[in-house]
Amino acid sequence: MNASLPPALEARAAVGARLSSPSAARNRAVIAGALAGLLPPGARVLEIASGTGEHALACVAARPDLVWMPSDPDPAARASIDAWAREAGGAIAPALNLDVTQAGWAEGLTAGAVFCANMIHIAPWTAAQGLFAGAAGILAPGAQLHLYGPFLEGAATAPSNLDFDASLRARHPGWGVRALDDVDALAAACGFSRSARLEMPANNRLMSWRRSAS
Ligand SMILES: C[S@@+](CC[C@H](N)C(=O)[O-])C[C@H]1O[C@@H](n2cnc3c(N)ncnc32)[C@H](O)[C@@H]1O
Repeated sequence: MNASLPPALEARAAVGARLSSPSAARNRAVIAGALAGLLPPGARVLEIASGTGEHALACVAARPDLVWMPSDPDPAARASIDAWAREAGGAIAPALNLDVTQAGWAEGLTAGAVFCANMIHIAPWTAAQGLFAGAAGILAPGAQLHLYGPFLEGAATAPSNLDFDASLRARHPGWGVRALDDVDALAAACGFSRSARLEMPANNRLMSWRRSAS
């Protein structure tokens, strides 16, 4: 892994370049099923922080009409994504090297939807800011940005997510489970409004924001 990137929070098994994430094994089917109902027909989907690439494979298996564009700044992750992608019959493009904290990361990219799982809490807040700002340039009005992961939702926050937040902040002061209110405010500042909130297993959420007409 690139020394400038945070380590994965879990041990990943490796077979050749293919990495396997225990959490992705648990959640890929439910994520793929939920996203299948939200993504437009034939969409080109840009995935940020694809990790092992197992979500990409599950999503195109659930929706063979999609063209999936995975990305990750970690070279080992990109090698894994490309290795898993060989099972997808061309539905998954070669992994892009995208770091959403880098200025101009979204230049030249177009997509019908953007998806990102489990990144904004394991990266500085500038990553969430860069993600929404870049997605605003990529997505046409009406298109959606989808985020999967834990969120703080005031008094309704699950105790396990409060514990997870504390453990993340102990690891790195810039990390932490994000407050949904803060993400909604960031989204609004970038021209998005929330369009979906799906409850997922283990107190995770699939949250969607729609690009407003400019
Ligand atoms: C916990 S892993 C999640 C991977 C996958 N989405 C999943 O849910 O299994 C976090 C991923 O975020 C990526 N990442 C970290 N900082 C990033 C950044 N600034 N821009 C894009 N991706 C980033 C890491 O390389 C890593 O693959």
